[in-house]
Amino acid sequence: MDTTAKQEEWLASIAAAADAGALAAVEKRLLGPKGEVLELVRSVTALPKDERPAFGKAANLVKQAVEAALAAARERFADSALKSELEATDFDPTEPGPRRARGTLHPITIVQNELVDLFRSMGFREADGPEVESEYFNFDALNIPGDHPARESQDTFWLDDDNLLRTHTSPVQVRTMLRLSKHGFEPPLRVIVPGRCFRSETVDKTHEHTFYQMEGLVVDRGVSVANLIHTMKTCLRVILERDLQVRLRPGFFPFVEPGFELDVNCPFCAGKGCSVCKQSGWIEILPCGMVHPHVLREGGIDPEEFTGFAFGMGLQRVVMLRYGIDDIRQFMGGDLRFLQQFAEVPR
Ligand code: DAH
Repeated sequence: MDTTAKQEEWLASIAAAADAGALAAVEKRLLGPKGEVLELVRSVTALPKDERPAFGKAANLVKQAVEAALAAARERFADSALKSELEATDFDPTEPGPRRARGTLHPITIVQNELVDLFRSMGFREADGPEVESEYFNFDALNIPGDHPARESQDTFWLDDDNLLRTHTSPVQVRTMLRLSKHGFEPPLRVIVPGRCFRSETVDKTHEHTFYQMEGLVVDRGVSVANLIHTMKTCLRVILERDLQVRLRPGFFPFVEPGFELDVNCPFCAGKGCSVCKQSGWIEILPCGMVHPHVLREGGIDPEEFTGFAFGMGLQRVVMLRYGIDDIRQFMGGDLRFLQQFAEVPR
């Protein structure tokens, strides 16, 4: 039998099928239980033995060609079925889908990022430390021994006898100095430490149990209060976006000597006196001071040779001043109406 002629005939009938129904009929005629193609393959048994291998091979090739042509045709009809189904409705597959709501940066993150950029430009590096801190780093290394009243002022979440949720970012001062001195490196050292802190506070308009600080530490030969004031003034001018005056008052923190409270003139009344600054014209914004020799020593640095300054900025405080926010609870409140006001990208 001429397999080539048969194949051509069958492929032509597949090509001639006008729709999916006609194609199914052709498929049945060719490959169904008594299908013509199967008959062809089976007819091999009627041949003399020596002709069988060649014929069998040819017949199988025909069968494969028919199957492939059928599969291709089926796909063609499926595509056009989908197309006519789409045309029958007003569904437009080219229309953009629903927009995904886009999150925004938290105002604390926005200000923190700006501060990190600013301090980087002044040669500082970022350092980090654990939120679950040891008693030693949180207190003792900072010159606050067990019986010191300064411990009382930090309402502490103790986890067990030796560990607590850090009450400030200052422990990273000693951690960073140690990491440096342990490997034989010497100052200059300029780091900032943005981070989350915790105190067992009763929450109200100005107190939160979870808050953010940014610690700063500079150690070098001949570092003085003048360097401290200049750095702080630059930082506040950039972050509060205005020219400002600062003043230093004595402040007590066991890990600095002398210690200061740095105030800025009140942005709400330009120093005239209002309810925000309690009529004083000044707002307390930044505790700071010259690093205590005890702290340098704990960090493995010789206080006879090096001096340093440190500061501990309350980030919420700065954010509140910058945006005129009057309630610290907004930050952790998760109210989208509050948070979406700080969208930097158009929504
Ligand atoms: N760690 C202090 C606190 O949370 C703030 C502070 C004061 C940090 C003076 C400093 C500093 O680095 O020099 O109350």
